[in-house]
Amino acid sequence: MKIYRLSDLSAVASWLAVPIYKGATLPSELEFLKEYLEDLSLEKGKSFRILQTDSRYPKHILILGLGDKESMTPQKAGETIGECVRREKEDLCIFIDTLACDHISVQDAAREASYYAEYALYDFTKIRREKETVPEISFISSQDISSLCEQARLTASCVNHARDLGNMPNNFMTPEDLAEEASRLSQELNLDCEILTNKELEEIGAGALLGVNRGSSHGARLITLRYEGDPGAPWTALVGKGLTFDAGGYNLKSASGMDGMKFDMCGAANALCALELIARQKGKANVMAVLGATENKIGPDAYTCNEVLVSLSGKTIEITNTDAEGRLVLCDAITYAQQQGAKKIIDLATLTGACVAALGKNYTGAFTNAPEFLDALEKAGQKTGEKLWQLPLDEYFHEQVQKSTVADMNNCVSGIGAGSSLAAAFLEEFIEEGVQWIHLDIAGSSDFSDGKPYMAKGATGVMVRTLGEMFR
Ligand code: BES
Ligand code: MN
Ligand code: ZN
Repeated sequence: MKIYRLSDLSAVASWLAVPIYKGATLPSELEFLKEYLEDLSLEKGKSFRILQTDSRYPKHILILGLGDKESMTPQKAGETIGECVRREKEDLCIFIDTLACDHISVQDAAREASYYAEYALYDFTKIRREKETVPEISFISSQDISSLCEQARLTASCVNHARDLGNMPNNFMTPEDLAEEASRLSQELNLDCEILTNKELEEIGAGALLGVNRGSSHGARLITLRYEGDPGAPWTALVGKGLTFDAGGYNLKSASGMDGMKFDMCGAANALCALELIARQKGKANVMAVLGATENKIGPDAYTCNEVLVSLSGKTIEITNTDAEGRLVLCDAITYAQQQGAKKIIDLATLTGACVAALGKNYTGAFTNAPEFLDALEKAGQKTGEKLWQLPLDEYFHEQVQKSTVADMNNCVSGIGAGSSLAAAFLEEFIEEGVQWIHLDIAGSSDFSDGKPYMAKGATGVMVRTLGEMFR
């Protein structure tokens, strides 16, 4: 990534992209553009190409309308740049200073522009053979923005890594593949990595995860990575739901409900890549990722309704719906994280269709037993623009999940609505006293089948950036 100083303006050989607000005054270096601007509408999203011959300035100029500065936010500014680089498919040098305004600093503008440029240029190219060449994006500013831009690009590259894992077709991303990826990453980053296979899972008694795994021809994996950036301090665990495919089990999904279920491991992918980001930015925190990986399918020995599973915690679970498998995988992963000493837990899971119904695609549903902990995450989310919305969790939901007559709880309660809160209550049953916990239901926000002008369709890598912000 090249960063130009303003004095190097004439050296810019690619298109110079100049974002401009309506009614803005140009900085002196760009005053030569004044005559061109007179007739142009600078509505948000409009762009104009100018070829000019004064050798003191770049030959090719792309004017990018920003509309009114009043309604601009750092994220929207970044998205606008993302939209531009994704649309133009061409080497561009982005002029940063004019993206700033009275309430957006040059630093904020630089950070968001370089984050979104990297995020927007992402396309999933792992399987198709023809790779498109990715345009080169550089930046020019009067301020020293190099390290800011580098950090933002690093962040986006970890988010894009999560998108790659999520987008990978499920026959290329089995639980074994996910474990291998975690192991490869741990070696690259020099992190401690432990992978439990079915044999070890049986030995420790992870009966809930193993119950779900019985319908699959692929083994289950419980993957733990540790990053110790603050020796002696308490540990936080990022626990991820890693269903590399969720067919529903004997409570088989419908055709339309099954399409897209390769994304049911995005919780694990995003937890893993959040840890990657925290490690790469050398965050001052002790964070482990605990990923529960399996498929949920049908087979001769697949689990069924009316079975009772004995979880790693010892609590017993009556199966009332094999499609409510995420909470079974997560409860053992959560117990394991606590056995490993985690005092704070953030779990990420594509857990309930009810969350998509309630919040749609742009919000992550949040539940907690520790309001201050969620406050801190929400603050980080406000900085990154990733939206959280808290949903209710109280005694009533706990009573409902404890209604089984043959076990401590059942995995699905139907007919009373509030599916996301019931799932959260189930998970909270496994949180030990004194442990702070946030559950993030990313069923809606994990993937976006239509894409956006600044985003390829598919996995979004949601919450990777925010978790990186929280542990820096
Ligand atoms: N992975 C699904 C949740 C999901 C649905 C994610 C749609 C993304 C989009 C989960 O395992 C599931 O099947 N949940 C059931 C729970 C129900 C059986 C209690 C659901 O939401 O229908
Ligand atoms: Mn399911
Ligand atoms: Zn699922």
